[in-house]
Amino acid sequence: MDRITIRKPDDWHLHVRDNEMMRAALPYTARHFGRAIMMPNLVPPVRTTADASAYRERILAALPAGNRFTPLMTCYLTDDTSPDDVERGFKEGVFTGVKLYPANATTNSAAGVTDFARILPVIERMEKIGMVLLIHGEEVAPDIDVFDREEVFIERRLAPMLRSFPGLKVVLEHLSSKVGVDFVRSAAPQLGGTITPYHLQLNRTDWLGAGNRPYMYCMPVIKRESDRLALRQAATSGEACYFLGTDSAPHSVARKLAVVGAAGLYNAPVAIETYAQVFDEDGKLDKLEAFASLNGPRHYGLAPNEDTITLERQNWTAPEEILVDGPEERALIYRGGETIPWRVVGH
Ligand code: DOR
Ligand code: ZN
Repeated sequence: MDRITIRKPDDWHLHVRDNEMMRAALPYTARHFGRAIMMPNLVPPVRTTADASAYRERILAALPAGNRFTPLMTCYLTDDTSPDDVERGFKEGVFTGVKLYPANATTNSAAGVTDFARILPVIERMEKIGMVLLIHGEEVAPDIDVFDREEVFIERRLAPMLRSFPGLKVVLEHLSSKVGVDFVRSAAPQLGGTITPYHLQLNRTDWLGAGNRPYMYCMPVIKRESDRLALRQAATSGEACYFLGTDSAPHSVARKLAVVGAAGLYNAPVAIETYAQVFDEDGKLDKLEAFASLNGPRHYGLAPNEDTITLERQNWTAPEEILVDGPEERALIYRGGETIPWRVVGH
């Protein structure tokens, strides 16, 4: 198969930031994706219906003329989030979901949840109104190895939460381990999981085995080859519980290369093409549409996009960077300069 037409994909996990970085980063998502879940970890975070409405307006204003991309907004959960405001935002069509970051698990998560008892009223309300909870599933403590954070979070937090709130729909974001993949399958359809393009391509030997490559540093960190293979098997299976979420997360070059470097890979400019390559390599192109365009909307109770995109086997060279007005200057692109064997040729 050298050409494939699928329903327009959605990105169920995306960071576009704000202001100049957003204006530089957003067009690469908006050109190929119908919708995207907008991560709320701005500084300060998107905490209320009012914050999300204003952020949505800024995103819509930054879209290229004529573009029909739809941003789906999320609420950044804190110990003090109001269940009434969450419900209002959901009923007014501002919020699609609520995002749970354990405090200090990743970039801009300092305002995240420190005490799980305090979020129970919000979780209860979400279960009642049918609102999706998106989770950065990593347990962070000095005695937990960074490679075990996903597994420990599942054991200590996620499994009990799913049992206590059987009507709550949940997404475990950016699956990074075989344990995570297997757990999602075992808890479907209550639980779904997103998978990034780079967790399908990289293992920790790529990241650290021949020089430290800060552009492969993300949270959750890239794991073993056996984890990568489990993630590939899951994504390309077409099973309804796995769907596309790029976790595209631009940072300035200065922040990526600082002594304490920022976590995150900016991959939107090569995302759908990279997924197509992975599915093709595994002989599973026939499952790409389920993963990219059907399973996500079904989990969120939304209809798939009506439009389509067409990809073709055709070499092209990924751009190296985006230029950003202001002090951030530029952000490097995942796979920049590489030859990519699949290309979007039509909408
Ligand atoms: O690597 C990451 N970067 N993981 C996250 O969870 C957040 C993201 C970011 O905002 O840069
Ligand atoms: Zn993310």
